[in-house]
Amino acid sequence: MKAILIYLGILQCFALSVNGLKLLCVFPLPARSHYILGNELAKGLANLGHEVTIIAAFEENNPPKGYRSVWISEIMEFKEASGKQPNMFEMENMSPFLQMIFLPTVTPPLSEMIFNSTKVKALLNSNESFDAVIVEQFFIECMTYIPYHFKAPLILFSTIGANRWINNLVANPANPSYIPDILLSFGSDMTFYERLYNFVFDIASDLVLYQYVYPKHNTILHKYFPNAPHLSKLQYNASLVLLNSHESINQAVPHVPNMIDIGGFHVNPPKELPEDLKDFMDNAKEGVIYFSLGSNLVPSNMPQEKKNIILKVLGSRKEKILWKWNEDQLENKPSNVMISKWFPQQAILAHPKCKLFISHGGLLSTIETVSLGIPVLAFPIYGDQKLNAKRIDAKGFGIAITFSQITEQGLRDALEEVLDNPKYLENAKLASRIIHDRPIKPIELADYWIKYVVRHKGASHLRVAGLDLPLYKYYMLDVLACVFGGIALLALLLSKLSKKILKTRSIMSQSKQKKN
Ligand SMILES: *[C@@H]1O[C@H](CO)[C@@H](O)[C@H](O)[C@H]1NC(C)=O
Ligand SMILES: *[C@@H]1O[C@H](CO)[C@@H](O)[C@H](O)[C@H]1NC(C)=O
Ligand SMILES: *[C@@H]1O[C@H](CO)[C@@H](O)[C@H](O)[C@H]1NC(C)=O
Repeated sequence: MKAILIYLGILQCFALSVNGLKLLCVFPLPARSHYILGNELAKGLANLGHEVTIIAAFEENNPPKGYRSVWISEIMEFKEASGKQPNMFEMENMSPFLQMIFLPTVTPPLSEMIFNSTKVKALLNSNESFDAVIVEQFFIECMTYIPYHFKAPLILFSTIGANRWINNLVANPANPSYIPDILLSFGSDMTFYERLYNFVFDIASDLVLYQYVYPKHNTILHKYFPNAPHLSKLQYNASLVLLNSHESINQAVPHVPNMIDIGGFHVNPPKELPEDLKDFMDNAKEGVIYFSLGSNLVPSNMPQEKKNIILKVLGSRKEKILWKWNEDQLENKPSNVMISKWFPQQAILAHPKCKLFISHGGLLSTIETVSLGIPVLAFPIYGDQKLNAKRIDAKGFGIAITFSQITEQGLRDALEEVLDNPKYLENAKLASRIIHDRPIKPIELADYWIKYVVRHKGASHLRVAGLDLPLYKYYMLDVLACVFGGIALLALLLSKLSKKILKTRSIMSQSKQKKN
């Protein structure tokens, strides 16, 4: 028996050493939700036998075998030193145009910090090699230099689904007639006004990208690496795009062949709940409502008036409530409410007594709730949350309400509807069956495609030719100009000709009349 085990062990080691790649992940954003996802990907890949190095703003306390972190502590220090963080609740009414301009202006100093960090410099100057480099796509375009430096294929990772910023980089078609921008809260069946808005937003966002973001990152790149190629040679060279999306949650949209949906990869088999939580949930005769606004919104920053309404309505429910609250105390906490600064979210959602998730509509939370089949009441605030909430509504596994418009009666009614009408639970279970109905697990899919592009030395055959066309060719502007110009010319000629014919005729008839 022992001999067989040892033999199997050796076999496994052999298999791993054949399959295991050296991967570098560049996931440096100082936002928890981005880090959680990127880090889950890195750990998932390490667990599948790869040697993974991750450049990150946070530190992993429990690294698995094969995982190494290059922790850039300056990033969080910089974020904290840059003063008081804005109250995210005030962003609810921020114009999408402002959000679109705001996002890319915060990341250039971050990119500089990474290129200037001693740890990253040491890594780049070492004789280490990597088989592939995975870079998060989120306004850190100049980081696409790193795979070039290591002569390794570039893999882009997006914590959201296909979106304009990534579509541009792989020429993925996204028709604004039915695909609303991620920052807009439109459905897929848009009114004339919404399509007009989406179209103008589309052009404005592209202007910001091409006129500000890309040139800015090209400048940063050449400040630190004067001999690097122009950014446009690097950032359009992605071999693979890993998207954190899935049709069970997102709208179905086109994907070019090297875009792969791995949404749901971060959801792991549920772990045991800690003793106190387990008791709390096991003993909830009427079930449990889980309330968390994610990792970026600070719950104690919510307006006092809204807090009072929520306390009153939740306190009057028969269910028990778990509320993720950022302080030690919650004033006027009702007896059915338990607060904590952190909850094992997936394990709570997986508990049979969990009946509802009150969420901000963040994508991670939405994927987890869909994976575990729990209905949602969403209070979307900013970024992609409104769009996610729109989808939650459209897919029918929850209700979205505008946070600034919450009233006591409105909240009461919404809770009753989503808890008492069985259709929300049924739709949540349906979405859950869809997200799990896949040939292989999403992390294994990521693993397969990463190995694929390494095996095929960048897999340039997956690249669509549209990527190499100038704008006028891509949109056939020359052909359109030719066709419409031709039609216009023809019409002009015809009208000239008909005028001439008419003129000759009238001259002829005049001369006839004279003769008569
Ligand atoms: C780069 O790092 C050095 C020290 O390592 C520091 O003196 C310098 O100010 C940094 N530059 C930028 C732009 O952060
Ligand atoms: C990398 O360099 C170190 C010395 O700096 C050397 O000991 C090691 O063998 C080198 N590794 C490879 C793969 O070249
Ligand atoms: C683009 O990617 C391919 C495949 O990884 C690589 O061979 C090529 O050198 C890259 N080109 C640039 C400019 O990085």
